[in-house]
This record gives sequence, C-alpha cells and structure tokens, in this order.
Amino acid sequence: MADETIAGGDEESPGLSRRGFFLGAGGLAASGLIVGGAAGAAGGFALARATGSETAATADIVYPYFDQAHQGGIQTEPQKYSVLMTYDLTASSRGEVQVLLARWTAAIAQMTKGQPIGNPAPPGPEAVAQDSGEALDLGAQGLTVTVGLGPGLFDSRFGLASKKPGLLKQLPHLPSDQLQKEFTGGDLCLSACADDPQVAYHAIRNLSRMARGTATTRWTVTGFGRASAGPSQQTPRNLLGFKDGTRNIVSDADFDRWVWLKNQRQSWMNGGTYLVARKIHQNIETWDTDRISDQEQVFGRTKLEGAPLTGHGEFDAPDFSKKSAAGDPIIPATSHVALAAHENNGGIKIHRRSYNYTEGIDGVGQIDAGLLFVAFMNDPDHFIRLQTKLGSSDRLNEYIKHIGSALFAVPRGPRTGSYIAAELFD
Ligand code: HEM
Repeated sequence: MADETIAGGDEESPGLSRRGFFLGAGGLAASGLIVGGAAGAAGGFALARATGSETAATADIVYPYFDQAHQGGIQTEPQKYSVLMTYDLTASSRGEVQVLLARWTAAIAQMTKGQPIGNPAPPGPEAVAQDSGEALDLGAQGLTVTVGLGPGLFDSRFGLASKKPGLLKQLPHLPSDQLQKEFTGGDLCLSACADDPQVAYHAIRNLSRMARGTATTRWTVTGFGRASAGPSQQTPRNLLGFKDGTRNIVSDADFDRWVWLKNQRQSWMNGGTYLVARKIHQNIETWDTDRISDQEQVFGRTKLEGAPLTGHGEFDAPDFSKKSAAGDPIIPATSHVALAAHENNGGIKIHRRSYNYTEGIDGVGQIDAGLLFVAFMNDPDHFIRLQTKLGSSDRLNEYIKHIGSALFAVPRGPRTGSYIAAELFD
C-alpha cells in the first residue's frame, strides 16, 4: 500500500503516514493489536451461516471483517443478542479520534475472529491484561460490531464540518416523542451483535475501555430475541408476543434501493448507510390485559400465525383496500402495519434490525422493558416520514413510549491495512 499521508498535513497528526499511523497508533503492534492482513475474506474465516439449524455450531460463525463493501451487522442475518453503546467524544484533536477508530478497527477484527484483543494473562506481577477475558473459549459467535458516527463528530471541535454526510442531523421532535435526554444522541456508537450475550457484551466492554480518555459512554441498551429461537420459530417475536420482521426488507435489490449510499458528494460515505436507534418503552402490564382480538386490530395481523387480517398465512400480502360487510377496512387504517406499509407511504422501505430489551422493574414494580428499534436506511427522512404518521395515529401508541433516539452515519467496511472511516480524514 502506498505510504500516503493521513489527514493531508493536518497539524494534529503531522508526518503520520496512514500505514505507520494505523500500525503504530497507541503501540498497536507492540500491544498485540495487529491487523491480520486480509483477515476473513482471503483468510478463509468466513463460514456460511446455517439458518434455522439447531445443530449449527454458532461458536464457529465468523464473518469477514476487512474489505467488505459494507460493515457487518446490517445485512448480516440477525444474531440473537445485541448491545448498543453510544459515546460522547472528549478528545481535543482529530488525531485522537483517528487513533480511537484505528484501535477499534484492530480490536473488532480480532474479536470477530473469536480471538482476544491482547494477551489476557500477561506475565509479571505488574501486568494488566488488555483483554478482560470473559469471552475466552466462547468462539466468534457470529459477532459483528457496527460503528456509527453522530452529528457531533462534525461540529467545530474536529475541523470535519466540510466532510459531514449530507443527511446527518439531529432527528426533529416527532409526534408522541417522550424522549429522555439520558437516552438520546451520541457522537459515536457501536452496535455489537452475536449469538452469545457475553460475546456481544465483551466486545462493547473492551471497546469502551479503549475509548477512555477519548470518549465517554452516553447511553446503552442490551437487547435479546432477534434471531429465531429455533426451527419452529422462523420469525422472532417481540415482547408483545407478535412476530416482528415478517415484511422486513432482505433482498439485495431492496438493500441497493433503500439502504446503501452511492454517488455521494461525501464519497467516503459510499457503501455506507444511516442508523436510527430508538429506545421504545412498552407498557407490558397494560398490553397483557388487552383482548387478543384487540391486539390483532392494533397490529393488523393475527397473533399466532402473524398473518395479515385479510389473509391466512404469515407471508400473504396484506390487502389494505379490503372491506368488511359493514364497509370498514379489515386491516384498520390506524393499525401499525397499515400506517407503516410501503404501499401506503409512497413505496418507502427501511431495514429493521430491532431487539427486545428489559431493564428489570421500575420504581413501582412495573416491568421496565421494550424494543430497541434499530433501522438502517439511505435517507433518515424515510424514518421521519414513517414515524410522523405512526406517532400521530398508530393504535400501538397506547402501549408504547419512545424514550430514546439517535441518528448515526455508518461508513463502509474498513479496507485491509486501514481503519474504519479512514477516508473521512483524507
Ligand atoms: C415498540 C415498537 C414497535 C413494535 C412492537 C413493532 C412491531 C411490529 C410488528 C409486529 C410488525 C408486523 C410484522 C412485520 O412485518 O415485521 C411491524 C411491522 C412494521 N413496522 Fe413496526 N413496531 C414498532 C415500531 C416501529 C417503528 C418506530 C417503525 C418505523 C418508524 C416501524 C416500522 C414498521 C414497518 C415499516 C413495518 C412493516 C409494515 C408492512 O410492510 O406491513 N415499527 N412492526
């Protein structure tokens, strides 16, 4: 690779070449955080993910990391568990942010191979382990870690304003929002997903530790229950008991049209996307007292099969124009799916990758739980348009409360020998 200068003469990182910077940053090479060449793609680590098979050894699932057109954890088949962590940058220079992204890249490369990020038990009485160790022997577990960049990275602090992705901004106040400041925003985010909760948590915990001195943690949600739990549960269910993901977009053609960015003025964002995260509290106790027939009207789908109210099978196409003998739409116009369906929104589609969460009980003994809604799209306005309708009229609003929110730009995957979002600093 050419020994090109990073950050074009930036006074904060004088004389650093991209290669020297990456391998040298924070003593990465010396500390064992060495990027292993074309790990994954060329290294033969990539195993096909077995779907719906309980015999699949999830420990062995390794997703390639470098030289992928897109970051993992977006079109990747959903893993069972996730941890989303957001951060506030405390760094005073752009160079510090680069070092953090480089160190994260190297560490993610290791962990997605199921390997520790350094010697977990270095010799010597004074030695401190770099890897906290709790994921040793658990394998890769299909781990992906998706890195997102929040609007704050492009404010006056780091001289990156001219590189800001065109559509990255704070989301506006939306109908029914009851956002709590402590669950909103973030200059950076990491979304770790894996088939083992400890592997996902280990990744976030160690990456957060690396960020010390450069970024502080802001808000986090630990999620579960995304991938199907077995061959008989093909579509996972949310905590309201309904199949969630039936009409999600999955095809390459839909991803090309609705998720991936191309021909961007900020060319470093080509191959990237935007991530919307919403922490949505669910009033579980109230929901549980509701009649099934009413719950089905709320979603516009049957509870057991997950079929649209106009059909029989889960994957039957909903017919939003079909009326009852009394002349009312069989799928109520204010049901969740009628309001969110692309047929009723000028064709708009987003890719949802949400997880259930629980945080125990609240101060009065009620279950504190809900949905960590995560969606990817090539225009955040698509989410805004959907949520403007849902927040105004969705029958589901009686049972949910949007309490957290953030938007991040998600760059393409890193190239071998480089690091995530490196082109941002060119
Ligand atoms: C706690 C909050 C939510 C719950 C429990 C929930 C649950 C569901 C369920 C059960 C379905 C039907 C099955 C499916 O096609 O996946 C669905 C569909 C959908 N939801 Fe949500 N959802 C929530 C929030 C949201 C939000 C905030 C948005 C976007 C702003 C959204 C967008 C969609 C879309 C686009 C569909 C597909 C509609 C269709 O094409 O039929 N959902 N959701």
